[in-house]
Amino acid sequence: MNIIAICGSPREGNTEFTLKRILTKAEEFGASSELVLLREKRIEFCDGCLSCSSTGKCKIRDDMQLIYPKLEEADLIIFGSPTYFDCVTGLMKNFLDRLHSNYKKVLKDKKFVFITVGQADMESLNKTIKYVENFADIVKMFMVGDLGLIAKNPQDIENDPDKIKKIDEFTEGLIG
Ligand SMILES: Cc1cc2nc3c(=O)[nH]c(=O)nc-3n(C[C@H](O)[C@H](O)[C@H](O)COP(=O)(O)O)c2cc1C
Repeated sequence: MNIIAICGSPREGNTEFTLKRILTKAEEFGASSELVLLREKRIEFCDGCLSCSSTGKCKIRDDMQLIYPKLEEADLIIFGSPTYFDCVTGLMKNFLDRLHSNYKKVLKDKKFVFITVGQADMESLNKTIKYVENFADIVKMFMVGDLGLIAKNPQDIENDPDKIKKIDEFTEGLIG
């Protein structure tokens, strides 16, 4: 199984740790994986030209052009984003907008998992999960799992054995 994980946190914190943990476990089960940190990529905003509606391609020449084929080749995609104001981060929203060109052809019927981390409560995180569910409905992708974790400071999850156990169990349920 080929897995690609997309991290939408602007810092090296809980989301990145969680994604790395999932990928390490998945590799133990024989999967191959790659982690893409959106904050390290040059990704322009969707400019709304809608030329992709006829060409099926995005005309903006930036790092998304390297990510599109990876999504296409993946058996499973993992989107990970902190919850910011009951939604995904701007980094992740911008990334999702840039999938407009691709979804009909490439993303349709693809399986993905969504991970979110937030400091408040599950009510806040569930709104983020709902937002991503709506995205999936529109692009006709299948959300095959979601995980919401409560954490505030960058190392909160890394220092919490209960949360690590939860991540490992989630991964086993997904891939094991
Ligand atoms: C601008 C901003 C908005 C936030 N909004 C929320 C929120 O609505 N709900 C919540 O639970 N946490 C919120 N948080 C807290 C982050 O989700 C939390 O610190 C999380 O651990 C960050 O994940 P990371 O370590 O992967 O970057 C917000 C943080 C920032 C910086």
